[in-house]
Amino acid sequence: MTRRLYIETLGCQMNALDSELVTSELLERGYTLVHSPRAADVILFNTCSVRQHAEDKVYSALGRLKHVKERSPRKIVGVLGCMAQKDGQSILKRAPHVDLVVGPGQLGRLAELLDAVAAGAGPRIEISPPRANSTRAEAKAAFASFDPPRATAARPAAHQAMVRILLGCDKFCTYCIVPSVRGPEQSRPPAEIEAEVRHLAQQALQCGVCLEVTLLGQTVNSYRHREPGRTWRLADLLARLHPIEGLTRLKFVTNHPHHVTDDLLAAVRDLPKVSPYLHVPAQSGADAVLARMKRGYTSGQYREMLDRIRATVPGAAVTSDFIVGFCGETENDFERTMDLARDARFKNSFIFKYSPRPGTPAAQWDDDVPEPVKRRRNNDLLALQNAIGEEDNRRCVGQTVEILVEGPSKMARTPASPGEPIQLVGRTTCDRIVVFDGPPERIGQLAHVKIENASALTLFGRETDT
Ligand code: SAH
Ligand code: SF4
Ligand code: F3S
Repeated sequence: MTRRLYIETLGCQMNALDSELVTSELLERGYTLVHSPRAADVILFNTCSVRQHAEDKVYSALGRLKHVKERSPRKIVGVLGCMAQKDGQSILKRAPHVDLVVGPGQLGRLAELLDAVAAGAGPRIEISPPRANSTRAEAKAAFASFDPPRATAARPAAHQAMVRILLGCDKFCTYCIVPSVRGPEQSRPPAEIEAEVRHLAQQALQCGVCLEVTLLGQTVNSYRHREPGRTWRLADLLARLHPIEGLTRLKFVTNHPHHVTDDLLAAVRDLPKVSPYLHVPAQSGADAVLARMKRGYTSGQYREMLDRIRATVPGAAVTSDFIVGFCGETENDFERTMDLARDARFKNSFIFKYSPRPGTPAAQWDDDVPEPVKRRRNNDLLALQNAIGEEDNRRCVGQTVEILVEGPSKMARTPASPGEPIQLVGRTTCDRIVVFDGPPERIGQLAHVKIENASALTLFGRETDT
């Protein structure tokens, strides 16, 4: 019997990739994909634990499913991902109608677990043992790589693909749950990554589209794979992937400031397919806060890194994440963050209010910045960032940029007749979002767009021939 699958994803690109791979594997096994939980036999939530808000969303979605499950008890409800790893058994206490809880290190067993639950095996919980109780080798084995080959049919778009190069994280920033839910840092062998990118490039060539690959890791630039006689770092991997036929653009996220090395910057400068785009979260501009976060750099060192980026790759787009209202953050500390954002002129920044995560060192400290102050700091930093983003985007007005067309924009209407232009969205190699009108056939192709207008996050223009 064909099972109908519904999957909902929260969290970062790592989770988006896991969902894509899970979907691909289940489609290969004969499942079909549906777009509402009511139409599904298997309902999966791929969850995130990075902030309380992300977890609350999952629990309310699970709450809404209670009646659906009461009416159709044969439906299988599964919780995957980081919250599954963090909360395990206690998910069933809050949501007893859940049938399956699977951590990110156990996704390779999902298909088999779904079969067992469908056969009446009762609720199943498969998570990796806590890192703290394991040796490093045990922890690596317990958070195994889940990177099966992908069938074209399951991919959201033939022209874009994420490829994991680094699993887990070893940085243990004091506020962050990721190292405990994603396990130890493990670099995939370069030969395996190259084979995967070649396969994706072949698929793109067959579909007649360009391919943009985004290499993923929580600290992607700490990639390090030892082989007899040599060690592969991210710069080496970029050079190895660069010549692959059918590959048009190569990006990588997320960078840790500590590993923005000169050889990496030289690779970004010298390899034309590599996007001059660096997401390097600063988190704060105040040394006392950075030290409590255990980020491993001072604000001065972060600024020196920015200078090196600007000197080696002029025009590179740099983006950041910030946490406001971290334990003990004073008004003066926050002003230092505003200073950094003002001086750095990030292309954009993701700004988060600090959210204590049980099990992290910071969760034992006083969450002493009141919510209204967090909100105000968030708004102030966002207003500054938006003003900078808009100013820099306005400088693009009048220029012609090359973009890779990603798909219909959020505002696009279905064309009344075939070939009629719709609103499309694409990105420049610096990751600037560009909206323009064009035929749907442009999706997956490079296009040149003359920029006519700009907002903080988007450029608007008209397609031209050159
Ligand atoms: N590995 C990446 C990002 C990890 S999570 C990095 O190191 O930069 C994405 C972002 O969520 C982080 O950059 C941080 O800004 C934010 N974040 C992580 N833990 C948080 C917490 N407890 N509260 C608020 N924001 C948090
Ligand atoms: Fe979390 Fe820090 Fe690792 Fe990023 S580097 S995932 S913020 S612990
Ligand atoms: Fe969230 Fe897990 Fe990513 S906690 S941010 S989905 S690694």
